[in-house]
Amino acid sequence: MKFLSVLLAFTVSPVYVAATGGLNGLPVLNGPIPIAPKIAGSKTSIGDFVHPGLWHTHDDLERIRDGVLQKKDPWYKVWANFSTDSYSQATYEMQGPKSVLCRGTCSNYTAFTNDVRAAYQNAIMWYVTKNQSHWDRATTIIDSWGGNLTDIVGTDTSLLVGLEGDMLANAAEIMRWEGGWVEKGASPYGGTGFSNQLYWLFARQSIIIGQANYGMVSIKALLSFAVYLDDVAMYNYALYAYLNEPCAGIYANIESTTGQSAETGRDQGHAMGGLGWAAEAARVIQSQGTDVYGEGNNLLLLGAEYTAKYNLGYDVPYDPKFYRCEAVLINGPWAQPSNISRGISETSPQVWDILYYQYVIKRGLSAEWLTMAKEKIDSLGGEEHPYGSSPDDHPGWGDLLFSYDEKCTCLNNNSATIWGGGMIGPDGVGNINTA
Ligand SMILES: *[C@@H]1O[C@H](CO)[C@@H](O)[C@H](O)[C@H]1NC(C)=O
Ligand SMILES: *[C@@H]1O[C@H](CO)[C@@H](O)[C@H](O)[C@H]1NC(C)=O
Ligand SMILES: *[C@@H]1O[C@H](CO)[C@@H](O)[C@H](O)[C@H]1NC(C)=O
Ligand SMILES: *[C@@H]1O[C@H](CO)[C@@H](O)[C@H](O)[C@H]1NC(C)=O
Ligand SMILES: *[C@@H]1O[C@H](CO)[C@@H](O)[C@H](O)[C@H]1NC(C)=O
Ligand SMILES: *[C@@H]1O[C@H](CO)[C@@H](O)[C@H](O)[C@H]1NC(C)=O
Repeated sequence: MKFLSVLLAFTVSPVYVAATGGLNGLPVLNGPIPIAPKIAGSKTSIGDFVHPGLWHTHDDLERIRDGVLQKKDPWYKVWANFSTDSYSQATYEMQGPKSVLCRGTCSNYTAFTNDVRAAYQNAIMWYVTKNQSHWDRATTIIDSWGGNLTDIVGTDTSLLVGLEGDMLANAAEIMRWEGGWVEKGASPYGGTGFSNQLYWLFARQSIIIGQANYGMVSIKALLSFAVYLDDVAMYNYALYAYLNEPCAGIYANIESTTGQSAETGRDQGHAMGGLGWAAEAARVIQSQGTDVYGEGNNLLLLGAEYTAKYNLGYDVPYDPKFYRCEAVLINGPWAQPSNISRGISETSPQVWDILYYQYVIKRGLSAEWLTMAKEKIDSLGGEEHPYGSSPDDHPGWGDLLFSYDEKCTCLNNNSATIWGGGMIGPDGVGNINTA
């Protein structure tokens, strides 16, 4: 009863708690999460969640595995490269864990960046090969960081949480629901492992959604965290924000008639990044059974066409009145498109494959500039694990991880997921998929 009144107090008095930390000192309740209006795709109960259901459903993972085992392209042509990548090795040497990380005013998080990528790629490696050593590598990385990382500080905490944190959640979702992994520290009286960290430290930060591409990072991460945590209110809040948040939602990021990005005038790295994060958000929503790729008459595709065209070196119409909230923080608004980081190269954000496969292959839509961007990337060797200072900004490896080889609805077969035909593992923890 006392607990309930604390919850109610939070509901009626929406005072935001400190943005970082949570495991240091007294824990604070996660929230407040404003209750979002009910819309298409909202969850009404916990049993509505599909698992695994972040970037990859069971069917998505099967599509990858079948492609590799049947030696079918586009999957197979990437496999040699993916499976020999250093982050895909079961022998990958962990660089962490650390207890406190900083991003923004200071920067000391590369051990996390690298270990997270290794956890995610090992999770995929395990799924395809079912080799126990990859299972071990993925899960020991998640457990080590899950039990040791207690705080993240710095002005860009929400980026670290929303990028690396989301990728780690994706690794965990695969291992938990497909691999039957039970996190270290799991306990019916308050665990100490990964999900605890996800709830208190990561999700809590993402609930405070910022602007434009930055805000979209929080939205897409929150969708993942909510699914992993089976948090109905958090999921509905993030879904609603994707569609309606006035500074960070899809309509705030992409101009509805031209596809101009709210950051076209800032620089192209952020314009491209925002597209990729919106595509990843839509992917989680797709995994949960709702299509938002089609939202706004394929608005995300319009945005991809605009930004692809400009980055391929062509002129685009530009409305200086369409720009991001708080542009003044970053020397905006801007009179013209920026040519900073303009172009499509191995080091530019890896955002084209996921969009190309969704719209051009899966839906069979024609998209001149997006297709050219995809061809340009292929001519450079294809999307793979990204280089540069922020290699976990996007998952990369699009031909393997986000591809389709034909037009299809490819709806998730819910009978083959845990909440349909799967089984809850021994002792009610962990989950084994029998399909
Ligand atoms: C990162 O920087 C923060 C802030 O200075 C510090 O508290 C933390 O210990 C550092 N972590 C590592 C791994 O160096
Ligand atoms: C599993 O992976 C390990 C480490 O990469 C390797 O040594 C071993 O041969 C693999 N086992 C099988 C059955 O392929
Ligand atoms: C912290 O990480 C170390 C090294 O991986 C691990 O042995 C230890 O169990 C972790 N601590 C917790 C509380 O999980
Ligand atoms: C980028 O734009 C600026 C300002 O319009 C211009 O001065 C500069 O020459 C351009 N740089 C390139 C590489 O096109
Ligand atoms: C993966 O592809 C890249 C780009 O084509 C190439 O540079 C690299 O050598 C390849 N790596 C492996 C292990 O095949
Ligand atoms: C869905 O999965 C179930 C369980 O594996 C299987 O029996 C059924 O045939 C599948 N349905 C379709 C349409 O593939």
